[in-house]
Amino acid sequence: MSSNRPIGILDSGFGGLSVARAIRAAIPNEDLVFAADCAYAPYGDNSSEYIQARLEHVVSFLLAQQVKALVFACNTATAVGIRAFRARLSMPIIGIEPAVFPALRHTRTGHIGILATCRTIESQKYADVRHRAIEWAEVSRPMPVTVWDVPCPGLMECVERGDFDSANVHELLVRYVDPLTAHNVDEIVLGCTHYPFLAHAIAKHAPKATLIDPAPAVAQQRRLAALDLATPQTAPGTERFFASGADAAREAVLRTLWSDPRVRLYEMD
Ligand code: DGL
Repeated sequence: MSSNRPIGILDSGFGGLSVARAIRAAIPNEDLVFAADCAYAPYGDNSSEYIQARLEHVVSFLLAQQVKALVFACNTATAVGIRAFRARLSMPIIGIEPAVFPALRHTRTGHIGILATCRTIESQKYADVRHRAIEWAEVSRPMPVTVWDVPCPGLMECVERGDFDSANVHELLVRYVDPLTAHNVDEIVLGCTHYPFLAHAIAKHAPKATLIDPAPAVAQQRRLAALDLATPQTAPGTERFFASGADAAREAVLRTLWSDPRVRLYEMD
């Protein structure tokens, strides 16, 4: 049973656009509805209860848009809240988590860095994936491995403001990324969907490291292409963008991040 209903994509803010653009590239004919909870961000510095309550609101909004699948384009929301929605809703729900396995597979120095929010790094879901990945590396890689976790408060706010390369951004990166370079880290996981928009700035602090953005892998998941999600339509899909606290400044940031000066941002509530 195919359906031309849209796919709903959510994040605490505009970071999820890094996932949305990968989905758009992977499945060009699907209609997308993107919901950014900008007015209530960041999620990553808030409690699990706060995040769960906000997710109830954002998911309800997307369900009212008749979505046929949900993408949690937010590592923090996936870590804290995805399980409850999967237990309750029968539609496909796709999440994103820090790409620890690919980083451990590719490292030559044995040192990898994970940039993510505080809440992601403290979560049980991340602890589990980290543990499994290290166990795998211990038997599969010829060298000892070290995973350096770096919570990065303040970084997502830079992206939300449309600030990608200012002195303020670099001050934060001196704190978060320079120590990884000192530890000889050669693979850095962008474990928050906002960080791919800072890749250029991050690379200046870790010029020899590979930055891993998990978004393309998420977008290529068979669950998105299969499960009868393919639309009968052959025309390019459309995108609609919503945010809590939608205003002209946020619309301007959306236009920059989506690389389209014509897109509009509508209020979510
Ligand atoms: N973009 C979100 C993530 O991938 C979190 C940003 C935040 O709200 O703290 O974790």
